[in-house]
Amino acid sequence: MILKEGMLKEGALKGKNILITGGGTGLGRSMGEYFLELGANLVITSRKLEVLEATAKEMMEQKGGKVLPLACDVREIDQVEKMWEDASSELGEIHVVLNNAAGNFISPTERLSTNAFNTVLDIVLKGTSQVTLTAGKDWIAKKQSGTFLNIVTTYAWTGSGYVVPSAAAKAGVLAMTRSLAVEWAKYGIRSNAIAPGPFPTEGAWSRLLPGDLVKKFDPAKKVPVGRVGEHQELANLAAYLVSDFSSFVNGEVMTIDGGEWLKGAGEFNNLDQIPQEMWDMMEASRGKKP
Ligand code: HXC
Ligand code: NAP
Repeated sequence: MILKEGMLKEGALKGKNILITGGGTGLGRSMGEYFLELGANLVITSRKLEVLEATAKEMMEQKGGKVLPLACDVREIDQVEKMWEDASSELGEIHVVLNNAAGNFISPTERLSTNAFNTVLDIVLKGTSQVTLTAGKDWIAKKQSGTFLNIVTTYAWTGSGYVVPSAAAKAGVLAMTRSLAVEWAKYGIRSNAIAPGPFPTEGAWSRLLPGDLVKKFDPAKKVPVGRVGEHQELANLAAYLVSDFSSFVNGEVMTIDGGEWLKGAGEFNNLDQIPQEMWDMMEASRGKKP
């Protein structure tokens, strides 16, 4: 099936060292696997070293290349700086940073403690900014070019109830992406973002649609194309955006959601629930002959 096929030509990421936060699981892992297939070397980082080590081993067995697992809580600047130092001394120049790590949960906002709200803000907005600043300062000091790719969501611009800290933080990440795209372009640093719609992962699904909720609120039903995303589809887009083929793409956020957020936004989009017979009746009532 074409949805599961790699899109870029062989060797498209050859010679690139790519750092992926949250690279041991879910979408981070899937994007990383495809980058490896295209010739990149990886640093994967998150809090759980044992998960990262197991993922790195499997990835190298399946795809070849080099995958360096490094533990780092993106909320802690000391850990971020140490991780960047270790990554650079092990692999040399890091060319791409994929800010993918996130934390999220579903809750009425008034039920959240201050600490709960801050936890999500800290992982998503503060974590992304700390990794970005650490990498960006180093690239600028060493006169190296670089590429940032930040994973946001479509509710970064619409907002969304029940995930308010995540929406606020992702909106901040999107603003940072667009701001730095302009400010740091003079240093040869590009910044782009991807806003995925629903892509099944253990991490997101178990937290956002726990238990029976996944059956009650089947995410595919909200998507005009009638399905959720395939990980390879996202990996194809990400690989393009971190490759040199996208050198003129800067400050962009690419939505990959099958039309989901626009469906929710358009005033009359829910009229697709009206059956053809009813449209026929409405036409007849204004005098149109069948
Ligand atoms: C309300 C909660 C909560 C929940 C934790 N808290 N879970 N509050 N509802 N479900 C509160 C705790 O009580 C505590 O507050 C505070 O949050 C911190 O909790 P900890 O467990 O100490 O935090 P920590 O160990 O740092 O874990 C972070 C986490 C966790 C965000 C809570 O879920 C996590 O590790 N997530 C990482 C992976 C993840 O979330 N992936 C999904 C990304 S999906 P108090 O006041 O009690 O101290 C995504 C997709 C969106 O973003 C789009 C989909 C279409
Ligand atoms: P996931 O597997 O839970 O990924 C989240 C990753 O972030 C985990 O690997 C986790 O690893 C890491 N992480 C969490 N807190 C961290 C911290 N403090 N420091 C460092 N790493 C941390 O979920 P996913 O679905 O693949 O999500 C990946 C990205 O896609 C996220 O940015 C998410 O917002 C975005 N997204 C997903 C969907 C979807 O439908 N799946 C839709 C829109 C956007 P540790 O637990 O080891 O730290």
